[in-house]
Amino acid sequence: MALWGGRFSAGPAQSAAILSRSIHFDWVLAPYDIRVNIAHVRGLESTGVLSHADSEKIMVALLALGEEIAAGSFHPIAADEDVHSAIERGLIAKLGELGGAFRAGRSRNDLVVTDFKLYLIDHMIALGASLTELIEEFTNKADEYKSAIAPGFTHLQHAQPINFGHELAKHSQALLRDASRIHDWLARNSLSPLGAGALAGSALVPHPERSADELGFSGAHQNSIDAVSDRDFVSEALFVMAGIGTHLSRIGEEYTLWSTTEFGWAKLDDAFSTGSSIMPQKKNPDIAELARGKSGRLVGNLMTVLTMLKGLPFAYNRDLQEDKEPTFDSMNTLLTLLPALTGMVGTTSFDTQRMAAGAVSSHALATEIADFLAKAGVPFATAHEISGRCVQVAEERSLDVHELSDADLLAIDSRLTSELRANLSAVGAISSRTSIGATSTTSLIKQIHDLNARNQKFIQYFDSKRSDFLEMITL
Ligand code: ARG
Repeated sequence: MALWGGRFSAGPAQSAAILSRSIHFDWVLAPYDIRVNIAHVRGLESTGVLSHADSEKIMVALLALGEEIAAGSFHPIAADEDVHSAIERGLIAKLGELGGAFRAGRSRNDLVVTDFKLYLIDHMIALGASLTELIEEFTNKADEYKSAIAPGFTHLQHAQPINFGHELAKHSQALLRDASRIHDWLARNSLSPLGAGALAGSALVPHPERSADELGFSGAHQNSIDAVSDRDFVSEALFVMAGIGTHLSRIGEEYTLWSTTEFGWAKLDDAFSTGSSIMPQKKNPDIAELARGKSGRLVGNLMTVLTMLKGLPFAYNRDLQEDKEPTFDSMNTLLTLLPALTGMVGTTSFDTQRMAAGAVSSHALATEIADFLAKAGVPFATAHEISGRCVQVAEERSLDVHELSDADLLAIDSRLTSELRANLSAVGAISSRTSIGATSTTSLIKQIHDLNARNQKFIQYFDSKRSDFLEMITL
């Protein structure tokens, strides 16, 4: 059903109508559209544009339509251009001419952006909650492995021994930053665009703050043109989701690597791995790989929207209709990926013996020698040289640096006394790093405590946001 016609002698060409349609993807906005329209109808009643009786009739019809949509008994048809026209069709079917009265004083321009903002608020809350579950899982695993020893890598080469729980806790840190970005997004994108009309504000409902309050926003927009043209809340949400996607991708890469035969660290649970149709022996880390692979579309969707926005005059332009599909795709992708990845992380076990066995190979304790000398007052550049010399001697003898005897070490430099021996073990190296955020078990226990406290705050925050949202949307 077209929402215009008076000045046109003919409807759009079929090809133009097909191109213009968005109903096949914007139908998910229907519950928000019903809610926003109800707030608008109350506004029309409060200014006397609609009588109390008419506004009641429209509201009852909108509520009934909302229920039919939820039950699947009212659905879009090919002739509907978008969610807004489908809902108006449903209303006219119920009320006749009165069904066309509710859109006085508002435009699809302010309606669509209000619907979409509510969709994103609703889903960003769900995303935040889902993220906290993954954070909790990583933090629990960090606790489980808080005394496990593993090689730490830089450039994917053995670097220094580390506590494996510390390695896992780093993911909680990164994901908590994502949670805080969702928190900030919710705080920053809390102004209602409703009442902006097509671009100039509404002469019929001159108090946008009223519907803003009813819809749970913290206030109304400050500029009606900005309100209908702003899609920062979309690109920012896509950035937050691309950032999460990038983290999940790097996590996926680590688990894929750790589960190779060569590493042999991670044992993935059967429920979170897959087999091969041809090679009976195979157990593949598909969940980790999909976590890595999904980052492509998550980053791509951000680029799609930023590129669409670039060069647009600041007002409503039909290009803006292209904001939805990438956003729905990113959101659906993450809301599907996160529970699977959380399940995989929670059920993966690690071979601590194998990890520990490799912790000191490739001269991973060479830094301990340099640190020992530096502590004894040797300038670090010299200490570094001496330690490098130890590595060279060890290499010549096909040994690891910590396998040199006390006599070998003394012969290289007289300051390499037998007291060095205590430092030349993975446990020694790890337990000597006790500062905040370092790899010792003592530091890690404090880190885990802090991670849990921070995550708990987010759990409560998303929970209370969820209840507020439900209270607003339920009528
Ligand atoms: N389907 C449109 C969108 O998503 C709704 C707004 C249409 N407004 C207009 N002036 N044609 O942006």
